[in-house]
Amino acid sequence: MAVLKWWETAIIYQIYPRSFQDSNGDGIGDLPGITSRLEYIANLGVDAIWISPFYPSPQKDFGYDVSDYCGVHLEYGTMNDFDALITTAHELGLKVMIDIVPAHCSDMHPWFVESRQSRDNPKSDWFHWVDPQPDGSAPTNWLSFFGGQAWTWEPRRQQYYLHNFLPSQPNLNHANSAVGEAICDVARFWFDLGVDGFRMDAVHTINADRAPYRNNLAKPDFELGDLPQEQQPFFRQLHDSGQLNQPAIQTFIEKFRKVADSYSGDRFLMGELHGDDPTLASETFTAPGRLHATYNFSLLEWGGLDVDGLKSAISAAIGRFNGSGRLSFAFSNHDVPRSATRQLAPLGLSEDDQEAMQLLLLKLEASLIGSTCVYQGEELALSDVQDIPISQMQDPWGIEFAPLFLGRDTCRTPMVWKKAKNNWSGFSEASQTWLPIAEKHIQRSGIDEAARPGSVYDQFSKFLAWRAQQPAMVQANSMTEIKGGPKQIIFDRISDQQKLRFCFDFETLTTSVTEV
Ligand code: GLC
Ligand code: CA
Repeated sequence: MAVLKWWETAIIYQIYPRSFQDSNGDGIGDLPGITSRLEYIANLGVDAIWISPFYPSPQKDFGYDVSDYCGVHLEYGTMNDFDALITTAHELGLKVMIDIVPAHCSDMHPWFVESRQSRDNPKSDWFHWVDPQPDGSAPTNWLSFFGGQAWTWEPRRQQYYLHNFLPSQPNLNHANSAVGEAICDVARFWFDLGVDGFRMDAVHTINADRAPYRNNLAKPDFELGDLPQEQQPFFRQLHDSGQLNQPAIQTFIEKFRKVADSYSGDRFLMGELHGDDPTLASETFTAPGRLHATYNFSLLEWGGLDVDGLKSAISAAIGRFNGSGRLSFAFSNHDVPRSATRQLAPLGLSEDDQEAMQLLLLKLEASLIGSTCVYQGEELALSDVQDIPISQMQDPWGIEFAPLFLGRDTCRTPMVWKKAKNNWSGFSEASQTWLPIAEKHIQRSGIDEAARPGSVYDQFSKFLAWRAQQPAMVQANSMTEIKGGPKQIIFDRISDQQKLRFCFDFETLTTSVTEV
């Protein structure tokens, strides 16, 4: 009987710490808050949690701007709180994955503070510094994901530095192997504390190559239009000029994998990545000796009820990765509108049908090969909060492009736990929380839904309990091609001992499984 490693079939519950549970009444979620809710997560029947960054950080990008890789941000608690969290999680049978951000850090990180001072300090080569062009302009036309140029001028060095995200998130220079070594030390620090794996942030944006620099070309189907270069959105450019997915990244990745392999207990590395051809990039990043798996974006991008689009996204992934756990599917996360909004809202479904559809999507993702990431609140069928006033918006990306684009606050509002009045639905005792809590979410509060027979939480947890007992689901990672009519997704999951036929029907909003 084939035995798979835990991560090859894991259901991973993603926690956004700022919005999960506040324990000290400041309106901001924290680590003790997470610990107090671990039972709710374990009862759902998932295998692991992934906690988005909780490290010391100026919070310009809510933790993805790290100023100390080996600590806990003051608002989130202490290292003792982290110890308590991991101990409790392990007691409950949950693996613990945390985020690591290897591509960039905060401009307040001591490495950058030192590096920017001069061209000859000990950290001078730890970031991607480049001389201006003869006319003083930036080395290339590269844009940052969050808008504007990917280069910022540093008068002290009379050079530009690269940042694929905010100017306050300078790219580390992985061409200098000391940088990769330092990030490997960070991994050792957390592995020593018992962490079971890392979700590795934006690995395609790691920078490890130097000149020659080339400009990005505009996407063929986009005109760069009249907007000045610095206001162009990132997604209007092709990125094969060297800005993303540089081959030299793999030297670091291979080194990092060796660190994970030097620990017992199957430590797991899952990379978040993208590219003009994301499936190809996933293949490169998960070649032997590299990452175990990558995070598959195709379902995250699929909008509206396009069953055909969904089928082809799944087929493309299976075409390359069938038989392996090298990819992780997700419908929602902290960066995109929740599936309930992105995919289901346009259908104008009734509340009941909306729940049925959310359950169908959850079961679908948990039935595919590889691991699955469920984002906090997905088990409650939460939808996005789209009426946050601009004055209360927090996401720098959203603020940059509002009101054209609502940004990422809409999927990051605090969790709801209890229908009780006066205490902000169990999230916090504070009268104001860091993002507003949605009135509409209170009807779907976690503790109430977990106790309500027939709720999405209840049905999904039963499904996960069943799944854990099926050889075809947990002893092999193979499935047949997708079949079915225009509103159906039908496939078999197969192991030596069992063959299960799944039918997801988007017309009747039902799922059926039969042993064949
Ligand atoms: C990843 C994170 C996102 C963050 C970005 C920069 O895409 O998921 O939240 O803003 O990386 O670190
Ligand atoms: Ca708090």
